[in-house]
Amino acid sequence: MRYFIDTANIDQIKEAKELGILDGVTTNPTLMAKEGITGLDNILRHYKKICDIVGDGDVSAEVISTSFAGMINEGQRLADLAPNIVVKVPIIREGIKAISWFTEREIKTNCTLVFSPGQAMLAARAGASYISPFVGRVDDITWDGIALIKEISEIFNNIFAETEILAASIRSPLHIVQAAKAGADIVTCPLSAIYGMLNHPLTDSGLKKFIEDFEKASASAKS
Ligand code: E4P
Repeated sequence: MRYFIDTANIDQIKEAKELGILDGVTTNPTLMAKEGITGLDNILRHYKKICDIVGDGDVSAEVISTSFAGMINEGQRLADLAPNIVVKVPIIREGIKAISWFTEREIKTNCTLVFSPGQAMLAARAGASYISPFVGRVDDITWDGIALIKEISEIFNNIFAETEILAASIRSPLHIVQAAKAGADIVTCPLSAIYGMLNHPLTDSGLKKFIEDFEKASASAKS
């Protein structure tokens, strides 16, 4: 499984890159706004900066328009920024039309705001490179986000879909592990959720003991 981080924060992207586990980045208008990035020129510059840091990995940049013409226009400007830009398009009727249009021109797309298997199937048929089911937001309304990943994965296996399942709205280390078990190809999450995977009390106590024993042995060797 691959790891994307879900942020527009440059420091966090650099940190994930330095860890050596960064496969890509996803952003959305909320995450861009959180970084105080406003105005088209600044937004495009910021995406370019992210693409340069990520290198080979894909960077999803979301369109704001909801009309076909608007999505095409915006998406093309985004795709022209860097070869690793993926145009992020919402799962609405015009969005499906736009995904088909981008697919014909070999521009990668990430179909976002997916909350049902039917939405995922249509996006796959239109040729989306990725679909993003929002696990955490499904859980937020007491439905089962991981069950949604499982269902989509089963269907995609049956229909030999080439579209990858990018489990989004991932909020915890447990979500990451469960998404992997459910058949997600990629997770996108905050860096903190990835760090959370490292935590184990037996690792902490084991490491403490190793260091203490080493120091004790070194001290007795000196005396
Ligand atoms: C990423 O593609 C999504 O926009 C994002 O994961 C949504 O996450 P949230 O539900 O935590 O806002």
